[in-house]
Amino acid sequence: MTTKKLTPKAEGAPKRKPVLVSGIQPTGKLHLGNYLGALKHFVELQNSGKYNCYFFIADLHSMTEAYNPDEKPSQILDLAADYLAAGIDSKQSILFVQSEVPAHAELAWILNTVTPIGELKRMTQFKEKGGTDGDATNAGLFDYPVLMAADILLYNAAVVPVGDDQDQHLELTRTLVRRFNKRYGDTFVEPQPLHTNVLRLMSLDDPRRKMSKSRSAGCLFLDDEPAVIRKKIMRAVTDSGNEVLAEVEGKPAMTNLLLIYSALSGIAVRDIEKKYAGKGYGEFKKGLAEVVVNSLTPFQAAKKKLKPAIVEKALDDGAKQARTVAIKKLREVYASVGLMR
Ligand code: AMP
Ligand code: TRP
Repeated sequence: MTTKKLTPKAEGAPKRKPVLVSGIQPTGKLHLGNYLGALKHFVELQNSGKYNCYFFIADLHSMTEAYNPDEKPSQILDLAADYLAAGIDSKQSILFVQSEVPAHAELAWILNTVTPIGELKRMTQFKEKGGTDGDATNAGLFDYPVLMAADILLYNAAVVPVGDDQDQHLELTRTLVRRFNKRYGDTFVEPQPLHTNVLRLMSLDDPRRKMSKSRSAGCLFLDDEPAVIRKKIMRAVTDSGNEVLAEVEGKPAMTNLLLIYSALSGIAVRDIEKKYAGKGYGEFKKGLAEVVVNSLTPFQAAKKKLKPAIVEKALDDGAKQARTVAIKKLREVYASVGLMR
């Protein structure tokens, strides 16, 4: 074993901020659930100044589900524009496309060799997404968590902001770190999940289901025009009765709408309930529509102003910076596993 090998400790020299890594798949337009559940936190975490942030577009992951290759480039660029318009600053954070940093796929291969297939078979996401196709399920879907581990470990990430649906993948990443370090010597840092105020928006047309782009009538897309937003909100299903109340028996729809109102306006749910006491659902929905429209207007304006060349430059710069860090780590890994002549 080489003595020159940098341990994670030595690399994270004093004064260096902890590394934060997260990614979103480019699979279509982002919706308010993605914004309130993920992107908004990314921006807050960046602006806290506490972390050295890497945000990426998980295009390799997005290949595990059927897609049209002609649409992928615009989905990637659109997601990059979403990141930037929401407030990710490419000077403060490293913003890049996963496939433009080849080390992700390379490290995934190495991690595959320390991953028992039994662990991958237990992954809930795999069982849900691949379960129905049986043996025809693509191996990429099976291996998805290993690529995700590579995304995280290449940058020595200490924290990974994710929705709780990704916790199992993060736990697997931690297991792989321990197994790898035991077999090959200290190489990787064990990352921690970061759940900041876990919000889960439900569909406007069915409050029992998660807001998701696959149910577009119940989904508020970040790019929706004001008229579309108003229409979707006015048509949102409501509960029986007419009191605007959250968290009470029989009010799942109102609970969701009040949550959206509160998350976007910063006003406590109880105060919104007071504001609409005795006013009924129609009045409340009108108010909510204005809150959503007003919150999305600055985002939409910022996105419209972004020139394609600016987006391309941010991604080019980001990939260059990410590659420098990732290649260094990959070399360290190759040395650990004995593949360095
Ligand atoms: P997805 O496109 O479903 O992979 O989601 C991308 C990110 O948005 C993940 O961090 C999810 O946890 C988050 N997300 C997706 N749908 C919702 C939702 N309805 N409410 C809150 N967060 C969501
Ligand atoms: N699997 C994540 C999701 O669907 C996206 C993702 C890929 C990711 N690689 C990652 C998130 C690494 C955090 C860290 O939401």
